[in-house]
Amino acid sequence: MLEAVHLTKRYSSLPAVQNLSFSVRPGQILGCLGPNGSGKSTTVKMLTGLLQPTRGTVQFDGHNIQDDLKAYRKCLGYVPEEAHLYPYLSGWEYLEMIGTLRGMRDSELAKKIDSLLELFSLHPHRHATMGTYSKGMRQRILLIAAIMHNPDIFIFDEPLSGLDVTSALIFKNLVQALGRNDKLVFYCSHVLEVVEKVCSDVLILRKGVVIAQDSVTNIGQTLGQSLENRTP
Ligand SMILES: Nc1ncnc2c1ncn2[C@@H]1O[C@H](COP(=O)(O)OP(=O)(O)OP(=O)(O)O)[C@@H](O)[C@H]1O
Ligand SMILES: [Mg+2]
Repeated sequence: MLEAVHLTKRYSSLPAVQNLSFSVRPGQILGCLGPNGSGKSTTVKMLTGLLQPTRGTVQFDGHNIQDDLKAYRKCLGYVPEEAHLYPYLSGWEYLEMIGTLRGMRDSELAKKIDSLLELFSLHPHRHATMGTYSKGMRQRILLIAAIMHNPDIFIFDEPLSGLDVTSALIFKNLVQALGRNDKLVFYCSHVLEVVEKVCSDVLILRKGVVIAQDSVTNIGQTLGQSLENRTP
């Protein structure tokens, strides 16, 4: 289980996230919704270990992730909000490098890269340098890089950013399959419709504070309407 325990992050003296507590269990797809600046990416960066909380901890299977970040990151697939890919590497070379760093075996690696490039319609472009890729193509490479080593925890920060309808649909199906395979998923978005479709549970942030937390069904039923009508 992945747990955020009283997480607080201040930038200088300004609080971005305040006293946030939640947990994600295997098979759960927890959506994190909130308007721009509500603290989603700050929360994600603390969950990945990229940012040290000002107060509170992130625990995975009962251990503070900061105690052994290297081991924790092996279990993690992360799609950041913004990423800088090496423009002079081809998509194939980049994925090969990431897979090798994640300890994948050569035989398994080539097969996995091939099938994921096919799935996301990037196979014909695999030998072109990423500097020539469109934003959506780079985003698809990031998604592949996050999932290819089959980790236990997936953290997605606006993963559909720049994707066309077909790729977005493939990705949404893939996320649902992760849930069915008992993976832990934390999915940030400001698009209510996507969270309603993809996630089992939802956390709504406003100005760095949780204002609602429940299953998607309960939140929808309580209000007798779509989440869309309770935009924070
Ligand atoms: N490196 C930083 N230094 C100072 N303030 C920051 C920094 N990063 C984020 N903030 C502030 O923290 C607050 C939360 O930002 P965050 O990026 O976590 O929001 P978000 O919910 O991800 O927004 P968006 O939907 O635009 O991606 C904002 O007020 C932002 O200005
Ligand atoms: Mg963000």
